[in-house]
Amino acid sequence: MSQLLSLSRAARLAGVSRGELQATIRERDIQTFEGEIAVEDLLKAYPAIDMEHDPVLERLASIKAAAKPKSRYSDHWLPEPEVLMARLEEFQHVLTRTKATLNNMEQLLAEVTASLETVVDSDDQRLRETVLHLSGRLRQSLQKSQTQTDRRAEIFSRDAMLRFIAVSARIQPSGHEFFVEGKDSLLDAALRAGLHLDYGCASGNCGACKVRVLKGKVRKIRAHDFVLSALEKEQGYCLACSNTAVSDVVIEATEALTAVDLPQQEIRCVVRNKEAVSDGLNLVHVQTPRTQTLRFMAGQRVAMTLEDGKRRELAVASCPCDGRNLQFLLRSGIGDGFAQTLLAGRHGQTLLIEGPRGDFLLEEEATEPAVFVAVGDGLASIKSLVEHAIAIDNAAALYLFRIDDAPAGGQLDNLCRAWNDALDNFSYRRLAPGVEPAEAARLIADAVMDLASHRLYVAGTATWLDDFVEQAVRLCVPAENIRSDRIDAAGVRCIRAGA
Ligand code: FES
Repeated sequence: MSQLLSLSRAARLAGVSRGELQATIRERDIQTFEGEIAVEDLLKAYPAIDMEHDPVLERLASIKAAAKPKSRYSDHWLPEPEVLMARLEEFQHVLTRTKATLNNMEQLLAEVTASLETVVDSDDQRLRETVLHLSGRLRQSLQKSQTQTDRRAEIFSRDAMLRFIAVSARIQPSGHEFFVEGKDSLLDAALRAGLHLDYGCASGNCGACKVRVLKGKVRKIRAHDFVLSALEKEQGYCLACSNTAVSDVVIEATEALTAVDLPQQEIRCVVRNKEAVSDGLNLVHVQTPRTQTLRFMAGQRVAMTLEDGKRRELAVASCPCDGRNLQFLLRSGIGDGFAQTLLAGRHGQTLLIEGPRGDFLLEEEATEPAVFVAVGDGLASIKSLVEHAIAIDNAAALYLFRIDDAPAGGQLDNLCRAWNDALDNFSYRRLAPGVEPAEAARLIADAVMDLASHRLYVAGTATWLDDFVEQAVRLCVPAENIRSDRIDAAGVRCIRAGA
């Protein structure tokens, strides 16, 4: 039986995105086995996997350093020593079984070869020829295994290396997969992968993140106050926020699959930082309490109320993978009391956020390439969508087009360039500020082959957007493949009349 790899693991070993691997599987009609691919088929699809370099580690390191929208990667790269030791022990079992099988096979081969040679002197000419042929083949095969490189074995050893750093987890019943890396708990890792696992406090108090381990081993990485009953423990339940995976695991867990599955939340937060990212545009960093992170989906908004009661609805500009450290884009406008108060406020001012709201969401299960168009302050919700799309790694390719007058080399421009440089399937391009919707649609259609087969996500001022969407439909993009976030000049969402 050939070795099977989950699609996420296979994509990492081949150094491609999961979306790209899925596209290859569809194009070449490669057989998969309940979401897994045979090593032989992976090698046939990607014969040029470079075994000299280690794209697994290089890719992980480069993405983590430059692009992934994860705030705490740098100090979370390696697992705790105890977890590493537990994984070593797991691997030792695998090696022991593999070596035992190999020893048995070698012994069997030697015995078969010896037995065959005893009949070489048989009177039966045909039998003698068959036996000679068979023993020759066996000898050749043995020599080959001792002298030639076995690509399957190389994949095995690379996979083994990967398993020390990142084990995989599969959720039942959704079938979603994610990697558990570094010092992450199961919950951290699922959120980083863009999944919406149920949870509450994220700190072991509420029990909302209870999952059942169906296969594999987990290990507690922090003490928790919530008490699991003896029966729950016996049945394999654990808290996802307080346990990590030692080996590949399958867990039974509940997830929010649509925005309505998320609870409405009210959280008092602290403004941690405000920085100008271009002329008049500011990136505001807001932090929730440690025990109350915001659960939301990429592209959604929250209502924000300041200490003096001023209130505004704003798109969250960061990824749901970090519900504690939230970012918002805020334009400082003359006569805009909300922006003035927030931007001039003291360090550590508090504000209340309520939400999440809105349905400008990523089609998460879609594997078609996705095109994101951010016009002006529409960059906020698009940034969140792009970060989420990178995290879930499902789309075969991602294109980001940005239309605004921010100077090149600004903080957000550099972030988009970092995605472009670090991710093979990501392309970033800026269009001239003031470009007309029809011209923008034409330029995008020229830059993206077969735009009609892509998912289109557009955010920007309502009038510009309406014209652009009309043009996109004329270019044969099905209307159901287009999602738009229509905002006014202050970044407030516009509702189309009759919508
Ligand atoms: S999220 Fe509250 S105990 Fe895990």
